[in-house]
Amino acid sequence: MEAIMKPIKVGLLGLGIVGGGTLTVLRRNAVEITRRAGREIIVTMAAVRDLEKARKYAAADMQLTDNPFAIIDNPDIDIVVEMIGGVTLAKELILMAIARGKHVVTANKALIACHATEIFAAAQQYGVMVAFEAAVGGGIPIIKAIREGLTANRIEWIAGIINGTTNFILSEMRDKGTEFADALLAAQELGYAEADPAFDIEGIDAAHKLTIMSAIAFGIPVQFDCAHIEGITKLTGDDVKYAEQLGYRIKLLGITKRTPKGIELRVHPALIPERRLLANVDGAMNAILVKGDAVGITLYYGAGAGAEPTASSVVADLVDVTRMHTADPNNRVPHLAFQPDTLSAEPILPMGEVRTAYYLRLRAIDEAGVLADVTRILADSDISIDAMIQKEPEITRTLVDIVILTHRCIEKDIDAAMLEIEALPAISGKIARIRLEHLDR
Ligand code: HSE
Repeated sequence: MEAIMKPIKVGLLGLGIVGGGTLTVLRRNAVEITRRAGREIIVTMAAVRDLEKARKYAAADMQLTDNPFAIIDNPDIDIVVEMIGGVTLAKELILMAIARGKHVVTANKALIACHATEIFAAAQQYGVMVAFEAAVGGGIPIIKAIREGLTANRIEWIAGIINGTTNFILSEMRDKGTEFADALLAAQELGYAEADPAFDIEGIDAAHKLTIMSAIAFGIPVQFDCAHIEGITKLTGDDVKYAEQLGYRIKLLGITKRTPKGIELRVHPALIPERRLLANVDGAMNAILVKGDAVGITLYYGAGAGAEPTASSVVADLVDVTRMHTADPNNRVPHLAFQPDTLSAEPILPMGEVRTAYYLRLRAIDEAGVLADVTRILADSDISIDAMIQKEPEITRTLVDIVILTHRCIEKDIDAAMLEIEALPAISGKIARIRLEHLDR
């Protein structure tokens, strides 16, 4: 009985925003957390870059070090929480911790998305757990939901707003009518976007998270390299406005879907009908739709980043590991939801084969026959038009914007049709093409 009640000892690799939040939550809710976990969870050691700055978090029973390897080498530490980010050092530390029989909790989505196979194989070999709830959707318990809550289901698709920075930028563009660059500046001033926001605005952060969810949903390996990734940098204020006039909102979506030909794995901006709950997720919030064959469509909403929301997921993992660490490794929930020897080799569907609807915006000389030419090319390619608007030319402009919404068609067909349309003498420049998702079935 004495051994069972011994506190579980945690070492933090990194004590930044999420690390600080984790300490705050663990301390504030210590009694509740202990009642749930069955034993005390205490942080006994933290590795930090700046020892002086970290003193504010220190407690009498917590040792600070600027050497992360000291945590790995400490035989008293049961669980290592990795919050230093990046891939190289984080991976080295995690693999060392695993090899020493320590369990790992990480918020590092890039690391899991790019190195899951190696990390989970090592964890299996040494009989330890690697928990990563905080890597996707911040405080939303989406990993738990897909991996356990929906375990009865054959998952059909997932579509989510899984990057708060880009959702804030798109909300600004819609609310204030601003262009992308101004909205990005506002996001940076509020501390949402990093000084180098490339991972957010180019869709990479969302693709890391989507790739992890896709693996758990479909029982396939985590294969970030196969994800199709487009960010929001090319979106214009006009497209946001025209979408709105047609009853849609533009969101950066991560979509993964099971199809007869393979698994779709794609991040890109998309129009979604404004009446969908997902279209009304504004600011830096995250939300994820999951469609299961038994449950139907479910929606998970919450803060996708921030100190305490992310700490909420880190601590949930700490409690899970604390409860399960004495269990036979074969009886634990598999890291990727499916037993590792049953992962499927289903291919990721090439983007050209994806079937969806499209928003097209073309700039054309306002003269007879242009629309007829455009619609003929679409009809010849078997692409059916759902809606079309032509904007009146502004007084000084001789070009008009024509906006077309198509029904669902194959991406390579619309690409070929667009090349033909762009070659028409009356069409100016490139067509803006944004995918359109109904998210209703
Ligand atoms: N940069 C991320 C976002 C933080 O904007 O959502 C959480 O992963």
